[in-house]
Amino acid sequence: MTSSSAPTVRENGTGTPLVLLHAFPLPARMWEVQLERVPGPAGDDARVIAPDQRGFGAAPLGDPPPSLDTAADDLADLLDSLGVERAVLAGLSMGGYVAMAFARRHPGRLAGLVLADTKATTDTDAARANRERIAAAVLERGSVDLLLEERMAENLLAPGTDPELTDAVRQMIAEASPAAVAWAQRAMAARPDSLDELAALEVPAAVIVGELDTVTPLSEARMMAEALSDAELTVIPAVGHLSSLEAPETFNAAVRALLKRVK
Ligand code: MLT
Repeated sequence: MTSSSAPTVRENGTGTPLVLLHAFPLPARMWEVQLERVPGPAGDDARVIAPDQRGFGAAPLGDPPPSLDTAADDLADLLDSLGVERAVLAGLSMGGYVAMAFARRHPGRLAGLVLADTKATTDTDAARANRERIAAAVLERGSVDLLLEERMAENLLAPGTDPELTDAVRQMIAEASPAAVAWAQRAMAARPDSLDELAALEVPAAVIVGELDTVTPLSEARMMAEALSDAELTVIPAVGHLSSLEAPETFNAAVRALLKRVK
């Protein structure tokens, strides 16, 4: 990641390195509550690191072809630059896809894994075509308005979510750049199935899902938890796709429980 006026990486706490990988098309800012509270009351239970991923927030997009492998290698470079050899990765949705790509490409650097509101299976042909439709449309229009309408309509958040949170999510989506949205859509469309990689992992894992998540539903979470050799599944009641934002206390408790298993 190159430097810019705004930070591309947020950090708080000391202890076990925990990297939080944000969802599409949000920035690392979505992890504010986790950055503040996961390190614990004395701030020494975890070194929480939340990077803006390529193209989002303040991170430049660059010009490599779209691939989640590139995003996973960005993360390995980031760990190198921070002097971190092994880390626990926690990815929500697209962040989970990147965490699985990292597990495939850099398995020795993974100390534990949190997969939240994500899935290990590939896209259907229809989902891939839909991603390409969105990528082409945002590039042609030079605006992410179409994505904003469609994403919010997809029940990213559970019905009845606090309007302030809904507005904050809208704002974060509106800030995404069309080029980054197109790149990430194409990268996600090309991702392989990761169930075999999950089955081969020996590190402690946690799978977290909002009960009302319709984007990456409970059935997908169960599949990942069953594939992993040492996983605990947390289903958060009355919560949608963005479980870390909708139910931060429950989410953080599940992450902190995983960190204890890693120590
Ligand atoms: C996300 O929240 O990161 C996206 O819903 C992932 C996806 O589009 O598959």
